[in-house]
This record gives sequence, structure tokens and C-alpha cells, in this order.
Amino acid sequence: MQKIILDTDPGIDDAQAIAFAVAHPDIELLGLTTVFGNASVEITTRNALTVLDQFSQPQIPVAKGAGKPIQQSRFPSPDFVHGSDGMGNLNLPSPKAQAVDESAADFIIRSASESPGTISLVAVGPLTNIAEAVKKDPSLPSKVKELVIMGGTFNEAGNVTPVAEANFINDPHAADEVFAHDWPAKVIGLDVTLQTRLGDEDLLKIKEKCNAAGQFLWDSSRFYIDFYSSRFARSGIHERSCAMHDASALVYLVARHKFDFIAGPARVVPDGFAQGQLALDSKKEPYLLPHWESRPDTHVAINVDANHVLQTFVDTLTAHSFT
Ligand code: RIB
Ligand code: CA
Repeated sequence: MQKIILDTDPGIDDAQAIAFAVAHPDIELLGLTTVFGNASVEITTRNALTVLDQFSQPQIPVAKGAGKPIQQSRFPSPDFVHGSDGMGNLNLPSPKAQAVDESAADFIIRSASESPGTISLVAVGPLTNIAEAVKKDPSLPSKVKELVIMGGTFNEAGNVTPVAEANFINDPHAADEVFAHDWPAKVIGLDVTLQTRLGDEDLLKIKEKCNAAGQFLWDSSRFYIDFYSSRFARSGIHERSCAMHDASALVYLVARHKFDFIAGPARVVPDGFAQGQLALDSKKEPYLLPHWESRPDTHVAINVDANHVLQTFVDTLTAHSFT
């Protein structure tokens, strides 16, 4: 059984990732920690609680985290991707539970300290909580089993600028801080998440098998699929589907051999026109500038067996009743 804490900004694809974490028999979801990103942290925290209700898991703790980036101002929420409520404008009911009385960073530090070496930290939003946690407890990387991050891009173009992916540009200082520390860190970025497309046919199967949770996943994905279908059409892909960003980081936990990685010290550009760009030293040449020196290797996924990831996602959800 793999114990995980999921740091998240729900977010429609975050809800898909939470569904996988709840449904997979080898994953134990210890808690959700929330961060701003797809909406304000007030909204993403409410969504985290409501999504857990939709999946019949109201007992899973939710710890509210950062409402703004470490240094820069917060960008406007991407309501054209996730809706103004972060869930495709579904007007969902109020959650049954409340967030716990502990910050996201403290929840992460305490959980890792109580069970050293056993917890995988999976971060699928801006990295603000993780940066705050490691600044507060620099021994955190030695206490977690691994850090798996959805964010960044290496060969692919960015999704919010030509070079930047959304989670990294939302707090580039936090991402750069995180990569200064010696975790076993894996980055599941756009190079692989854009390859795996979750389509209406897949979501129909989930809707048919997963009761109210399936209906919720179908309903919430309408807005997101509308957005992605028009974006994909501009690249010549004509199908009703969305990129499987956040869920890919979860599927990685149970299909590690299906992802190919390159490695090297990582930096994230803090500002300027390349703000949020992942700058990986994969060649380790004796370069002119020293900014990558004394940083540990970060592993960045550059290829994936997309069919396997998609099938694993659909099979895992449809095998689970969510009641
Ligand atoms: O770039 C994709 C990421 O940005 C995902 O985590 C998605 O939820 C959005 O926050
Ligand atoms: Ca997310």
C-alpha cells in the first residue's frame, strides 16, 4: 500500500486525480492539502471537501494551504479552463466537513515526521505549500519517500506562455526553492500529460459504472473538455477529450516503468519573459553560468506509454463503486 498526501488546487483535473487516489487499491490517501491555482484557496479548499463528499470519503482530512505565491502577485484564476467555481460551474452543494485546524505545510511536516520514509508527496498545483514546508523543516526531503510533481515542461511548449506550464508560473519562486532540496523528485509535466487524453468515451464508461461519483466526473469534465477540445483542434486533433494532467502523476505511482525520464539539476525562471520555465541541466556540461551547481538531480518525464496510463485510469475507476 502506498501512502500519499495530495497537494492540490481543485480544479477539474485535480478532481480526476483525487478519484484515482480514492479508487486505486494500492493507494492510501492520507489527506489533501490545498493551494490557490485553478481558483482562490478558499474555493479550492471548498472544492477539495466537496469532491471528497462526491466520492463518499468525507473522513479524509483536508488542510488549507497558501492563498498566494511566495513572492510574486497572484495571477487571475483561469476561469475559462475550470469555471469560476473551479469545477465547471456546477453549483455544487456545500461540503459536509470542514478543513482541519492545521495548515497544509504543518500537515505535511507532521505526517512525514510521524511516519518517516513511508509517504509519497504528490503535488498537482503551484508548489507554494511544498516550498513553505521545506523552508520550515529542511529535513522534510529525508522524511518523505518521494515527491511527485505535476508541472513544468521540457520539450513541449508551455500551456500558459510559449515556455511555461501553469503550476510552475503560478509560483516560480516556490518551484525553484523545491528543486534546491535533495528529494527523490519526479516531474510529470506537459511532455507526458499532453500525450494522455481522456475522452468522452472513457468518461461515459466511468459515468455508467461509478454511480454518483461517475455522474460528477462526467458533469465536471464538460467545461474542461470544451476548453481542451478547441485547444486540441488548433493542433489538428479533432476529438472530445482533455489532457490528463494531474491524474498522470497519480497513475505514475502504480505504473512507474511506463514513464521515461531524463535527469539533472533543475531551476525555474523567476521572472521576465521566460517566467515559470523549467530549466533543466540534463547534459551537465561545464557551462558558463553556475546556477545549476550544487543542486541535486530532478527526474523529468519525457515520454510515456499513454495508452497504458489511460487504460489504468479508466480500469481503476470503473472497478470501484465509490459508495
Ligand atoms: O498545467 C496543468 C496544471 O494546471 C494542472 O495541475 C491543472 O489542474 C492546472 O492547475
Ligand atoms: Ca492542479
